[in-house]
Amino acid sequence: MPNYRRGFESLRREIHEPELPTEGDLPPWLAGTLIRNGPAQFEVGDQDYNHWFDGHAMLHAFRLENGTVGYRNRFLETKSRQEALDEGEIVRSEFATDPCMSIFGRVMSLFDPKPTDNASINVARLDDQYVALTATPLPVSFDPETLETAGVVDFADDVSVDTSTAHPQIEPETGRTLSYGASFGRQCTYKILGVAPGNATRREVASLDVDRPSYMHSFGMTERYVILSEWPLVVNPLDLLLRGKPFIENFEWTPGRGTRFRILRKSDGEEIATCTADAAFGFHHVNAFERDGAVVCDIVTYPDASIIDDLYLDRLRSDEPTPGTGHLRRYRLPLNGGAASSTVQSDERLELPRIHDGVATARPYQHVYGVGTRETDNFTDQLVKIDAETGAAQTWHESGTYPGEPVFVPAPHGSDEDDGVVLSVVLDPGNEQSFLLVLDAASWSERARATVPHAIPFGFHGQFFGKAGRD
Ligand SMILES: [Fe+2]
Repeated sequence: MPNYRRGFESLRREIHEPELPTEGDLPPWLAGTLIRNGPAQFEVGDQDYNHWFDGHAMLHAFRLENGTVGYRNRFLETKSRQEALDEGEIVRSEFATDPCMSIFGRVMSLFDPKPTDNASINVARLDDQYVALTATPLPVSFDPETLETAGVVDFADDVSVDTSTAHPQIEPETGRTLSYGASFGRQCTYKILGVAPGNATRREVASLDVDRPSYMHSFGMTERYVILSEWPLVVNPLDLLLRGKPFIENFEWTPGRGTRFRILRKSDGEEIATCTADAAFGFHHVNAFERDGAVVCDIVTYPDASIIDDLYLDRLRSDEPTPGTGHLRRYRLPLNGGAASSTVQSDERLELPRIHDGVATARPYQHVYGVGTRETDNFTDQLVKIDAETGAAQTWHESGTYPGEPVFVPAPHGSDEDDGVVLSVVLDPGNEQSFLLVLDAASWSERARATVPHAIPFGFHGQFFGKAGRD
């Protein structure tokens, strides 16, 4: 029986190891810090969180310099976590967990909703701050050296959104950070927000009123456009306001709607086209670009939204495993609207897709990196590198181990798109530990590994912050 279930158990220990035991050949140019985020505590008192996305955020920093790897891990000390530890029970609503509220509590919460600040999904740099992100618009800043939590970022603007993607995108040409959010109320609105380099003021790039908002974890971006992929997993906003159920359980799968791609022009916020396709669901946009009068939009998709149910902790820990991966689907969205065509680009399964950020972003590109599934009765048990055009795939696996999201780090002055390394934290349950794997991205072979003296629960996303302050 595969023991990937270790990746869904809590890690309460916080440590600092200035130098991890390392084997292999670390590139001398590899200098900076990989900061990863993910849930690490799945219960409070005698209460359990329901879903993988709900556990308390923990940051892990791998500092690479002079051929050595240092490691530190620390919980993000959020209000959500502090209140839960103080009360000995779950206090704030998470993605798929609501605290047990009395009638009085529920009424009170209408006037005093406390969205979670448990930012467990991703990290980013915002102006000069390092922040942890989740799907509520409450980025939590932290010190990248000590991982100490500073607090929720106070934006210098009056923008109001109820949700915010944990996957902002940086425009390669301008350095502007674009984000997608939604506000729920009598009138619901999707909003595209932009933050120019060097400040923390969000400006509205586009907004679109919507009756039944879709659950969209990320969005697509080309040079001129933003693409909102409205999966037919939609919510009646009244259900959210009444808060009878945890957030995601208010959304309904309505396949008759199909998938609607809303193409918004960045320059003036206009919706220039809506394209339609069969019902599908996805968390992660891989990349998008403009070609031959169409937007090409690559997304990891599933036939339906049951992947969300598959990621409840009961299910993940059960004897009925889920591969936790989908397929790379390429949509072609005509700029004059109408039906989108799509093809599955590769038989190889994947999730947590990454590209060469900045160089490949919003342009025709070749390489996608991700976690994959080798054995279908297993969780993510390999790393994959897929050619986005041809679907050709290379894999890396080591029996009994479970890799996390591969983060591409470019070699300085590299000429090819895959000139660099990928960094992945691999769970090795048999040895009760994890290791940082360094793969040469071009040859797809191991260069080095550094062993962490504990098992790190499965995480979501991380970023590499170069020593010179370059991502
Ligand atoms: Fe994500």
